[in-house]
Amino acid sequence: MEPESIKVVLLGEAGVGKTCIIKQFVEKKFEQNTDSSLSAQFVSKSIDYADFSKTLKFDIWDTVGQERFRSIAKIFYKDAHVVILVYDITSKKSFNALNDFWIGEIKNNCNKTPLFAIIGNKIDLYAKQEVDQLDGKDLAKKIGGIFQLTSAKTAEGISQLFDNIGKKILKPSFQYDKTDKIAKDNYNKKKEEEKNTKVRIKLNNGNNNKDINENEVGNNNNNKRKKGCC
Ligand code: GTP
Repeated sequence: MEPESIKVVLLGEAGVGKTCIIKQFVEKKFEQNTDSSLSAQFVSKSIDYADFSKTLKFDIWDTVGQERFRSIAKIFYKDAHVVILVYDITSKKSFNALNDFWIGEIKNNCNKTPLFAIIGNKIDLYAKQEVDQLDGKDLAKKIGGIFQLTSAKTAEGISQLFDNIGKKILKPSFQYDKTDKIAKDNYNKKKEEEKNTKVRIKLNNGNNNKDINENEVGNNNNNKRKKGCC
């Protein structure tokens, strides 16, 4: 039996990582410095959903993010089943563009409101994050869409994104929150590790630094006391 074809369109500001997300999903590759796309690109990938005894063929359109090409995007998304709206977690501007422009534009121009997925990409750069993940999640909730944090660089969240999209299509009542929680927990764990590493570096460089958190200061003072008493 022919697999069901699902038209997916990726939208979002230039440089948020649309092309890299698709490359990671289809070819399992990442390129560090890519040129901005000047034309839309098309790729296809099929996924088996064993739980549903179904295969979905994702026909994916990667659009151009540059603002001067925004009106052309309409041609691609007007009959899309799924619209993936991508922002870069290190760019508040890229997140605001989804709410201020893209969502209204799509709702006004689509033949039928598509399934939305809001993607916060570049989570490997969490140390530079400008967008709180809860803001992304709230936006997805507001429009009844899927929310996913991803890194096209490390591949985190990418296969999960399409897994959740497929499951939501095959079973609209599907709750993706449980799987989404794994990505969120990993994200929080990494953030905590990063914070502790920074504190350790500062401690190694002397402990006069005001940014050291209270626990670490406590530990550090204890260490000093121990040294003194022996
Ligand atoms: P346009 O083609 O201009 O619309 O941009 P785009 O949204 O397709 O972005 P693209 O995939 O070309 O990525 C832009 C830059 O971000 C490139 O230099 C990528 O290497 C980088 N990049 C993309 N995804 C990630 C990611 O998850 N982590 C990191 N660190 N860099 C990323």
